[in-house]
Order: sequence, then structure tokens, then C-alpha cells
Amino acid sequence: MNKRRDYLIGKLIASHSLGEGEYKELIELRDDEAALILQKEAVRLRKEIYGDKVFIRGLIEISNICKNDCLYCGIRKSNKSCDRYRLTKEEILSCCKDGYALGFRTFVMQGGEDGAFTDDFLCETVSEIKSLYPDCAVTLSLGERSRESYKRLYEAGADRYLLRHETADEEHYSRLHPKNLTLKSRMECLHTLKEIGFQTGCGFMVGSPYQTAECLAKDLKFIEEFRPDMVGIGPFIPHKDTPFRDYPPGSAKLTCYLLSIIRIIHPSVLLPSTTALGTLEEGGREKGILHGANVIMPNLSPTAVRNKYMLYNNKLSTGAESAQKLDELKKKISGICYRITCERGDAAKNIT
Ligand code: 5AD
Repeated sequence: MNKRRDYLIGKLIASHSLGEGEYKELIELRDDEAALILQKEAVRLRKEIYGDKVFIRGLIEISNICKNDCLYCGIRKSNKSCDRYRLTKEEILSCCKDGYALGFRTFVMQGGEDGAFTDDFLCETVSEIKSLYPDCAVTLSLGERSRESYKRLYEAGADRYLLRHETADEEHYSRLHPKNLTLKSRMECLHTLKEIGFQTGCGFMVGSPYQTAECLAKDLKFIEEFRPDMVGIGPFIPHKDTPFRDYPPGSAKLTCYLLSIIRIIHPSVLLPSTTALGTLEEGGREKGILHGANVIMPNLSPTAVRNKYMLYNNKLSTGAESAQKLDELKKKISGICYRITCERGDAAKNIT
């Protein structure tokens, strides 16, 4: 029995909203009992809206070349031991061809902030994918770009854009990033993307260095207010060639707790159970689904480059993490009484 904790849980379930200070308390008061109540409500809501469906997205990692130097990230500019690559348009199209045959109806083009990705190149690639596969959604995850660029990409046919905000706390943001990157500019990009019409995704790492309950409370309040279509969260995992190499990884339990809370804040959100969660813990991805997540993004990149997109140590890209092993993934998901669907899986409409 914990009266305050139960009050906060009751309020969150009833109103899908808490004050920032209340989110902080809810995080600090986490125990197994709280986690279970929130998990049950998250699962109930997700079943009500999406049934037992788990949506899949084919993730194509189009380049690990990045002009940024984020302190947590394995493909940061100053990592000299990273073996760099960039896919050609033909290689990207070939990934889509394979993915389409496997049943994927969403392609996610993700990459570092690679200067070679001009608007012309990206627009050409996106519009070719959309004309070859008109029944598919194209998601981009290519970092911060100008409004004009986002607009051109949207007009070329891109449907969705993922840009994690990483942390909604300014001070924390500045400890994770070099000086030239600011939370203000990240937030401006997110608002621009939404305004243009993209289905927009934000997100953050759980347990990144210097993160406090207050930072996480700000992340939750931001998600509540911004109402993104998608939210990507996963545990921080250190990468050996970054300044954060010696920091401990984030907690899988806290990640699952936050997945449940996010589902309750925003019941119709598309919420992936991320590769990082699957990497941190055996069966982690399944746990994410069981706590309210409803999306999985198997790797569709060419096998030759898969181990080069190393954002953190030991990032999974084989087994059920690989798009080619969809059957293995299907078995794992049916084993926990959910079902992989090949539907395009846009966010449910007309739902709070
Ligand atoms: N651990 C976990 N996630 C990471 N990302 C980058 N580096 C790491 C890491 N070391 C996440 C960031 C980024 C996304 C593509 O991967 O949140 O937005």
C-alpha cells in the first residue's frame, strides 16, 4: 500500500495526464506493484485500440557517416575506428525489393547526418520507392534538416519522420551533445515536421548519463503535450569508442515502466519495442510488447553493412532482429500471444 503512488496511478489512468512534478514522483515511487498496475492498463488500452497486432517496419540503415559528435553515439564523427559506408540509391531500392517480398509495408530510411544526402538524392529515392510500392509508407530518420528540406521530402512522398528529442531537459541535452546542437533547434525541427504534415516521432534514451527522474518527467510531459504519432525509447547502452564508454547501461525494467506510462498518456501512439531493449536483455523485445509497445523494426540493411551501424556495443542485427528471419520473429511474438501483421500500420485515427 502506498497512497500517494496509488493516487498518481489513478489520476494518470483517469486523465491521461499528470503534472511534471507528479511524473517525477511516479518515476521515483516505481516498485513492482506500480509497474504491474500500469502494465495492465497499458496492455488493456493497446488491446482496445490495436488488438493483438504488432506492426513491423523494415529498417534500412542508409549511412553511418555523420557530421555530429553526440557523446553517446558509436557513429559520432570523432570515432576513427568506425568503418564508414553509404548505400547507393540502387542498394536502397534493392533492400525495399527484398523487404516487400518478405511482407514489409513500411520502409524506414535511417542514417547519420551525412552531407551527401542532398534533397535531390533523397527526394529521388523516396519518390522511386513510392512509385514502385504505392501501398507502402516511407519513414525517414535522418536528423535535423531545414524546413525547406523537410517540405521537399514530404512532397516527394515521405509519410513519417522519426527524430528523437533525446532529452527534454536543456541542461541534460547539453551534457549529451556538443555545443553546436541545441534542444531548441531539435524541438523546432519536431514542430516543423508536424506542421508540414509528417506523422512525427520523438523519443529518448533511458538511463543516459546524467539523466534524473526530473529529466524523464520532462520527457513525459513533452510527449503528453506534443502528441507525437510515434515514440521511440530504449535503454542507453555504452559504446566502447565514445566518451560514455564507462557509464552503465540503462535499466530494462525502467524502460518497460516508461513504455506503459507512455501508452497510458497517449493510448493510440505507435510505440516500438526497440533493438536496444532486445540487445540489453534476452527476450527484451518481447517484454516491451508485453508492457504496451506495438511496433518492431527488424533490420533490412544489406548484410555486408549491418555490423557497421554500431550505435552501441553488441547491437543486435541477426536472428529475429533480421528482416530475413521474419518467421523466427513471428514465432516469438505468437509465443507471447500477439500477432505480427503486414499492414501498413498508421496510427489509429479518432482516438485520444
Ligand atoms: N545507446 C542507446 N541508444 C543510442 N542511440 C544512439 N546511441 C545510443 C546508445 N549508445 C539512439 C539515439 C538515436 C537513435 C538512432 O539511437 O537515441 O536517436
